[in-house]
Amino acid sequence: CGIVGFAGKEEAAPILLDGLRRLEYRGYDSAGVAVYHPERGLQVIKTKGRIQALADQVEAAGGMPGSIGLGHTRWATHGEPSDVNSHPHMSQNGRIAVVHNGIIENYAEIKEFLQSTGVHFVSQTDTEVVAQLLEYYYDGNILDAVTKVLHRIQGAYALGILCADCPDRLIAARKDSPLILGFGEGFHLMASDVTAVIRHTREVCYLDDGEIAELTPDHCWVYDAYLRPVEKKHHQVDWEISAAEKGGYEHFMLKEILEQPKAVRDTISPRIQNGEVVLDGVELDADYLHGLDKIYVIACGSSYHVGVAAKYILEKLLRKPVEVALASEFRYCDPIVSSRTLALVISQSGETIDTLAALREARRRGARVLSVVNVVGSTIARESDEVLYTWAGPEIAVATTKAYSTQLALVDLIALYAARQMGTIPDAEYAAAVAALEGLPELLERVLEQREQIQYLASLYFNHPSVFFIGRNLDYAVGLEGSLKLKEISYLHSEAYAAGELKHGTISLIENGTLVVALAGYAPLFEKTMSNVVEVKSRGADVLGLTMEGFEKPMSEAVNHTLAVPAAHPMLLPSLEVVPMQLFAYYVALMHGCDIDKPRNLAKSVTVE
Ligand code: G6P
Repeated sequence: CGIVGFAGKEEAAPILLDGLRRLEYRGYDSAGVAVYHPERGLQVIKTKGRIQALADQVEAAGGMPGSIGLGHTRWATHGEPSDVNSHPHMSQNGRIAVVHNGIIENYAEIKEFLQSTGVHFVSQTDTEVVAQLLEYYYDGNILDAVTKVLHRIQGAYALGILCADCPDRLIAARKDSPLILGFGEGFHLMASDVTAVIRHTREVCYLDDGEIAELTPDHCWVYDAYLRPVEKKHHQVDWEISAAEKGGYEHFMLKEILEQPKAVRDTISPRIQNGEVVLDGVELDADYLHGLDKIYVIACGSSYHVGVAAKYILEKLLRKPVEVALASEFRYCDPIVSSRTLALVISQSGETIDTLAALREARRRGARVLSVVNVVGSTIARESDEVLYTWAGPEIAVATTKAYSTQLALVDLIALYAARQMGTIPDAEYAAAVAALEGLPELLERVLEQREQIQYLASLYFNHPSVFFIGRNLDYAVGLEGSLKLKEISYLHSEAYAAGELKHGTISLIENGTLVVALAGYAPLFEKTMSNVVEVKSRGADVLGLTMEGFEKPMSEAVNHTLAVPAAHPMLLPSLEVVPMQLFAYYVALMHGCDIDKPRNLAKSVTVE
């Protein structure tokens, strides 16, 4: 979900609606705004559907005058998407409006209690409990009521609160869900992330867990859970506004795919100096690295797929065991972690709640946490022992592309850096790999030149109802991501398999016309993967092959169509191969007329468990 709040002197509604549009990627099944006006009081408009549906309703209502208000765009957890379950939620007498991101875990018990006192609930949401409980505790001081509510509720929340009795101020509170404050001349903002505020200000601060803020047009106070004042550090956001805008492209996803050479260059080039990898702020010396019992890579979704590639890359170079864990599994599996374990936590948003919880669990058990994060100042970045930022810039499309690529580039840098420290890589190999990595942006440009050919292939294959991605080693890691990209935006059924595993059951699904995308760019295993290609081909599959230059001929003899990425250092293989997979998914989804930037049921930043 996305939250935005504005307290200033201008009309609030247009600023809230614009902020919501920029946060829409966080969830988009319903939306709402609450604005206070001295004559009209607290006015709320909310609706199922996209922000545009909300904007239409605001316009139909003749606008919403007033210079203070809250907005929300929702990704439903408790209560189906509907008008009544949309935020803001109001207390029974309409005095208090609340927007919320997160889950109130003990809401049922509080709801029962409030119902026993005669409170009537209108929605099925956990959030309404917060609004009603605020009213229950309210005795003329909203801040006191907020602290009482926060002591009573359990779970995760970013909250925005507006009370008609003190309509010059907004209250913000956070625990385990992101919330930032924006500072301007005569106004203050709160929002789930900076994309919603950068049009108005670049000066922000990040609320920490347990903190409460009070915002008026001219002042901003931050307190701890006991209302003791807290001094906050202000940060300047240096993202270009244009980076978060479509700039003539039909979709953010395509824009972000095409931005990959730049994003990867921004991530790599400051970290290679005179042929050496330099990781500022990270201290991984030889003794520490040799003493490691294990490296745990922890992440969700596409970041997890980067982790799968990282396992192959790190184990090969460091000869240390690397375990890749889905964050949602790691946190509850009683993981074997010691003070000699390095946890490499990967997250674009830096806010994914499962990844954050896994990070905390790893630290609690003594691991040192090095995180790879895109969003500066995000919770995962702040709670890690060390952080390396990917410089992808804002990524808006729900399906990640440039963030994935920059994560992969950072993994390469970390692997080379650590191998150099440990002495597990010969000098000449190290020099060759570093030089190859520096050349990656150019190679990515070359892969992107195949855009039209990939669009053509997508037009041939877009109607296949079921798709299997197969590959071995690094090709398998890319297959996982290729499959996820395709299914999340085109809604086609797809699965990724280690090529050698298909015959142990899944091959029974291959029949005439099933599409198999065969990735065989990893030279040492080319022949092995091709034997699996022959197996599916002889059972009627149509095969789209992806390999490295130099292998097109033997591949094209066995498959229907062949794509090849430029010949390069094997470490770069996943970085190169993922791009045709992204483009293929994009064009297939385009041909199906899908809502590419906002696929159904998904959200970019998942801050609920
Ligand atoms: C969501 C997104 C995915 C992303 C995953 C992990 O599910 O839709 O694209 O890979 O979260 O996100 P993170 O921000 O932690 O990398």
